[in-house]
Amino acid sequence: MKTLMNRRNWLKSGALLAGSVSLLPTSLPALAAPRPPAPAAPLPLANGLTDEEVLRAAPVQLRARLSANENPFGPSDKAKQAITESMASCYQYPMQARDLIQKIADYEGLTPEHIMLDAGSSPLLLAAAMHFGQQGAIITGDPSYADLPRKAEKFKAPIVAVPLTADYKLDLEAMEKKIDSRTALVYLCNPNNPTGTVLDTAKLKAFTARVSQKTPVFIDEAYIDYLPDPRGTTLIAAVKQGQNVMVARTFSKLYGFAGLRVGYLVAQPAMIKTLSQYAQGPMSISAPAIRAAVVSYQDQAFMQDALKKTLASKQFLYDTLKREGYEPIPSVTNFVMFPIKMDGKRFVEEMGKRGVSIRNWEFNNQHWCRVSIGRMDEMQAFAEAFTQVS
Ligand SMILES: Cc1ncc(COP(=O)(O)O)c(C=O)c1O
Repeated sequence: MKTLMNRRNWLKSGALLAGSVSLLPTSLPALAAPRPPAPAAPLPLANGLTDEEVLRAAPVQLRARLSANENPFGPSDKAKQAITESMASCYQYPMQARDLIQKIADYEGLTPEHIMLDAGSSPLLLAAAMHFGQQGAIITGDPSYADLPRKAEKFKAPIVAVPLTADYKLDLEAMEKKIDSRTALVYLCNPNNPTGTVLDTAKLKAFTARVSQKTPVFIDEAYIDYLPDPRGTTLIAAVKQGQNVMVARTFSKLYGFAGLRVGYLVAQPAMIKTLSQYAQGPMSISAPAIRAAVVSYQDQAFMQDALKKTLASKQFLYDTLKREGYEPIPSVTNFVMFPIKMDGKRFVEEMGKRGVSIRNWEFNNQHWCRVSIGRMDEMQAFAEAFTQVS
């Protein structure tokens, strides 16, 4: 566990965000551009910890690792085989990225120029944070996935965190009202992490059609593969229509690639060119990971199987929570959030002592637990610990 790579902390402590401009590619636009004033208070999102920080603090012998929204049913056997077969040629630089980009472009009906690959979606979120964070304010939900806003804050971007609706969804109306001349980007995590809720697709489409005319919209679709109809729900259609919309996708979730690191961004070719200046691109992905992604992409048999197992584990969790008198927020994803009846930090510690890692949040004057959906044995370990702790 100690050796777990903490990419966000690496970025935090590394020269990149500490302002050592000398280490940045020379093609980067000047970081000394005029900046808007910094927000008075720190970003009031989540509990301030990253998934990795929570995992690092967790016991080494975890019975259930339910804090980072990974898919324990992946990667697929095909992916593992592709990795094994690619080992013999690993002395070569990874040149298969083009195959993966083409595959995604063909599936989405776009050109390769609309797509940017990197080692997971985090570097793509960072690229957007660096670019837009120097230009003005970032509008986001609260609570929502805080990675991009936190990174933008390092570039002195004011963060406008808009509370969710009463049913724990991003409040599009309220977010739109916050747009003004200083707004650089609207960041939407859909489905939303940590609440597991999804926006109405028609409303979101109408929102981007309107809003993207004045402000770029970044949609983080890390969990969209868990929905019954990802194709009908994705906002990649908005990119196809020429809107100033960026859609981030990752192989880390349903494909089970969190440790392999493959993600991509879909956007207008000019935007891809701009953001490419801030990212390493496919050369940062290992050749085995790229090969595994090529054989995994849209592997429906694997995806349906993983979804079925996820749903069974999720139902078990719902039943456990109901039995104990807790009411979760209905989730469309591989994690579930529910209000707890004790201090969140203590709850995490008590569950951790019993070998179960989960995460806590505090918002709406309430402590919350977010639990990732694991294998059935992990959910049973959760249930056992939860019955003792709750
Ligand atoms: C909403 C969201 N976006 C992006 C990421 C980053 O994932 P990765 O860098 O593994 O693609 C995560 C990880 O948990 C996430 O929850």
